[in-house]
Formats: sequence, C-alpha cells, structure tokens
Amino acid sequence: MTATLITGIAELTTNDEELGTLPDAALVLRGARVEWVGPAAHAPDADDRIDVEGRAVLPGWVDSHTHLVFAGDRSAEFAARLAGRPYDAGGIAVTVEATRSAPDYVLVATLRRLVREAVNQGTTYLETKTGYGLTVADEARSARLASGLVDEVTFLGAHVVPPGWNADDYVDLVCGEMLDAVAPYARWADVFCERGAFDAELSRDVLTAAAKAGLGLRVHGNQLGPGPGVRLAVEHGAASVDHCAYLTESDVDALAASDTVATLLPACDLSTRQPLPDARALLDAGATVALASNCNPGSSYTTSMAFCVATAVLQMGMTVEEAVRAATWGGARALRRESGEGAVGVLRPGARADVHVLDAPSAAHLAYRPGVPLTHAVWRAGRRAR
Ligand code: NIG
Repeated sequence: MTATLITGIAELTTNDEELGTLPDAALVLRGARVEWVGPAAHAPDADDRIDVEGRAVLPGWVDSHTHLVFAGDRSAEFAARLAGRPYDAGGIAVTVEATRSAPDYVLVATLRRLVREAVNQGTTYLETKTGYGLTVADEARSARLASGLVDEVTFLGAHVVPPGWNADDYVDLVCGEMLDAVAPYARWADVFCERGAFDAELSRDVLTAAAKAGLGLRVHGNQLGPGPGVRLAVEHGAASVDHCAYLTESDVDALAASDTVATLLPACDLSTRQPLPDARALLDAGATVALASNCNPGSSYTTSMAFCVATAVLQMGMTVEEAVRAATWGGARALRRESGEGAVGVLRPGARADVHVLDAPSAAHLAYRPGVPLTHAVWRAGRRAR
C-alpha cells in the first residue's frame, strides 16, 4: 500500500480534540486510512506527494439523512408549494407509486447519479433510507439496492400508511414480515412520527420491534409541528432524531441530557417553508447537532451539504466551526461512526481516509461564498474520488 502525503494545507479541520484545527498542516493517507496528521514542518516522507497549494482541508461531509431510493418527479408539488399550498406527508404516496413501478435498473441509476453528485461536492459517507416501497417486496428491494451503493441503510417502512391500509394493520406488517425481510440489508430503523404519518403509540411499536430485531434507532420528528417525536427518540435511546423544526424547551433539555443527536435539515425546511430549527438553543443547551441534506424528491431535492452549512451559518446562528463540525463529526456521531478504527467525520491516525479539499484558504469561505462550488478534490476511503 502506497502512502500519499498531502502538503500545502493552509487550514486543516481535524475534529480531533487534541489536534484541533491546524494552520500550515500536512496529512498522510495509506490505503483506506489516515496514517499521520500534523504540522507540515514535521511531515514524514511518503511514496507520493500532493501539494494543495494553500487550500483548506476538512473531513468529507457525512450525510446522515437521505432518501435516495425513488423514482419519479415532484416538481409540480414544489411549484404548488411556491404558490401557497402547504407541504404535508401526502406527497410521499406519489413517489411510492412511481417507485413501485420502476424496474431495478431505474432505481439503481438514480441512486448512482445522486451518490456521484454528492461525492463530487465533498460527501464521503452516506446514509439512505427505504420508505418509498411500503410493501414487503418493495421495501426489501429498496434496502437491497441501496446496500450495494451507500454506506448505511435505514429501514423506513413506517414512512406513511400506504393507501388501502389502516394504520394498526400496517404497523403489524412493518413490525413483522417487513422488518424480517429488510433487516438483513439495514443497520437502522426509522419512523416518521408526525401528524399524517404515525402517532406516538404506533411509533413506539415500530421502535420496540426494530430494537428487538437488533437494528439501531432513528426518528423523524417535530418536522411539521410540535409533537412527541423527540421525546420518543430520547426515551428509546435513538441515535438521532431528525428535523427538529418545532422544539419545546423540554425537547431541547431532553436532547441535551441524552445521547440522541438532533439532526437538522435546513434545505428541507427552506423547500417546505417550515421555520429553520433553533440550532442556537440546542447548542447552547449542550445537545449534539448534525446537519444533513435530506435529499429526496419531495421535501428537499438537493445533495449539497455545503448549502446546508452556508444556511446554518447565515440563517441559523451557527458559527462556521459549529456548522462544519455538525456536517462532518455530527453526522458521524448520528451514525455512531465517529470513533475507533475507520472512524468518519474526523481526520486522525486510524480514521477512514475521507478528505475534502476546498478551493479556498479556509472553511469560512463555505459561508462567505455561498452557492459557489468550492470542492477542489475528494478522497473517499483513500481513493481519489474527484
Ligand atoms: O424527511 N418526513 C418524511 N420524509 C421525508 C419527505 C419525503 C417526501 O416528501 O417524499 C423527509 O422530509
């Protein structure tokens, strides 16, 4: 395995407590791992040498919330929203119908296209969810196809109750035959706990069954109004509760006192005209915050983590350091991948060699130059991906 020395780093964000953010730094990658990190003046020799000529380097983005297994287009729904129609969970059924009737190669082509689009913008670790199949066969197919193309798969059979079902019977299916069929391909299970989707009691049933099947837990909660999602996520020890646009003080306190990450999805809130989450309240209370794209055809059709970071800084009161950390380390923590050998969202010896070189001298340019494509180079698990 050859070692590659990256030099000429004007600012290196490591997210490592001891290493911190280094000026005038260097990095050695060997195979899929980071081998050495430190000041350029102390860099060891290596087989290859790449000079990034005064650019900033970050861990690759960790996008911990996407829905990439889908077919069809919802731009008409988006246009209606711009004309004043509020977003609700009902649009999901449109994508479910299109996804069910799409052949595998169409779903795979969309998945590949979106993963490539994300990687080209600096994303190196991706989670994606099922949830547009909602039959045993279609959910298992979604999970199987995703498992070959993304890093982590989440079972979201409890996305909405599909047409023709009552909620109780459908949750029985989700917690039984569907869970059994999807679990071999998934590490996580999720439930959309919201008005128009699943209430607290049914959400609890889904989380209990998924935990029993050995899956880690995630919750979609507090997206369209205040509700029980956050409380439930914390009670069940979920790794993450995602959306968090409507939080009460007690939700914030509960998150701060827990290991559950608050994953904020600002591109979705802008696209659905929901309020942006109160990131400041969460951070000031001591909660762990992640930022993710929520790429999906209905509520957030973007793969741009840089857009989420710029929005978090410019409109949500996060500092550049907080937003970059939330989109890297925070996402990794939401997926419980931030520590140990092969950790992501962090650049330290032993971490996965996921490196994002910006075409800018500092990470501040992500907010200072919003909307400008700033990705210069990307290594994903040690492989040059751009
Ligand atoms: O995270 N909230 C539920 N699921 C997706 C939206 C899916 C859709 O509208 O197609 C979300 O925003």
